[in-house]
Amino acid sequence: MKSLFDKINIGKIEMKNRLMRSATWENMADADGYVTDRLIETLEEHARGGIGLIVTGYGYVMKEEQPNAGMPAIWDDRYIPGLKKLTDRIHAQGTPIIFQGCYGGSQTAYNAGERTIWGPSAVEHPIYKVTPQEMTKDNIKTVVEAHAQAARRAEKGGFDGFQMHAAHGYLYSQFLTPYYNRRTDEYGGSIENRSRIIIETLNAIRKQVSADYPILIKIHCSDYMDQDGFTVTESTQVAKMLEEHGITAIEFSGGNFTKGWDDSAIKPKIIKEEKQSYFSEYASWIGSQINVPVISTGGNRSVALMEEKLNTSTITAFGLSRVTHCEPDLPGRWQSGDHAHPKCVSCNQCWHEDGNICVLKR
Ligand SMILES: Cc1cc2nc3c(=O)[nH]c(=O)nc-3n(C[C@H](O)[C@H](O)[C@H](O)COP(=O)(O)O)c2cc1C
Repeated sequence: MKSLFDKINIGKIEMKNRLMRSATWENMADADGYVTDRLIETLEEHARGGIGLIVTGYGYVMKEEQPNAGMPAIWDDRYIPGLKKLTDRIHAQGTPIIFQGCYGGSQTAYNAGERTIWGPSAVEHPIYKVTPQEMTKDNIKTVVEAHAQAARRAEKGGFDGFQMHAAHGYLYSQFLTPYYNRRTDEYGGSIENRSRIIIETLNAIRKQVSADYPILIKIHCSDYMDQDGFTVTESTQVAKMLEEHGITAIEFSGGNFTKGWDDSAIKPKIIKEEKQSYFSEYASWIGSQINVPVISTGGNRSVALMEEKLNTSTITAFGLSRVTHCEPDLPGRWQSGDHAHPKCVSCNQCWHEDGNICVLKR
């Protein structure tokens, strides 16, 4: 029998259990993207709380391309010392940490009129009403190389791995979704073409980091966008390509933010078991087609349900965001045998302009 509290390895990352703090935008870096003491202390609280692996909130890989305030920057070597201070403090607690790098794109309200925003095609974002500039092939090369340099800096800064953010409607996710990607060149159309920028990024990162440096990705198992969407079949095809090109692990999320919370990655009111672990069936199905560790994120709330999934599916580990945002010590409590239900009721009031703190902690 597998247990949620088995020690496992994801590539060379050693986890003390199968629980990962999924990327959660903290809104605590300073105005120039430097790591602050508050951000370090927040992540340190997660490390002390007993989680097996921390993923930072999304960081920006290009100077101009920050979809939200308070994100950590990684677009220049000047950020490495601050990032190293962060990783040293997390490692002092015996916890590994990986950096999530992102190019935002049109899903943004942050300084949107003041900067150039690229997209696969010039399609207005249904919610934010931002129309990006269609990327040239040179622009694509720039973004790919920015991720590769970001991963190099992450390794230098002591991170145990780098995660590409290709989920939740940001640029790489938009390339996968036909609604946003209307290109007719080799970056649009077939799923091989729509995922090309991601595979090129993986290959470019590998050239910049050590041969065994863990490279992870967060993608959708489906974005539920019907005929304009990215499907489970396509996600399986992308997962197979990622495997061929040496991805270390794949974290599956899903949904979209265009029709409200119910269809999104961050579904509300996840209390009853039947609503929990809401992407796990898709994640497990895709996992059965590949030989790469699969992490399922979204609505994981119950130790018993996760252990059942663990023993009846292909899932290797579980991502947690809102529950640990509310109670960073939850993984340690679970590990010590207290399997109480989390306090989080998925009210989705996790955000605050002065740092994203759970409403129950404010
Ligand atoms: C406050 C907040 C910030 C988030 N920031 C990120 C992020 O930076 N990158 C990312 O991939 N997902 C982000 N997410 C999504 C979570 O990682 C996760 O996919 C989602 O919340 C579902 O998991 P949960 O039910 O455990 O909360 C965020 C979610 C919340 C609530």
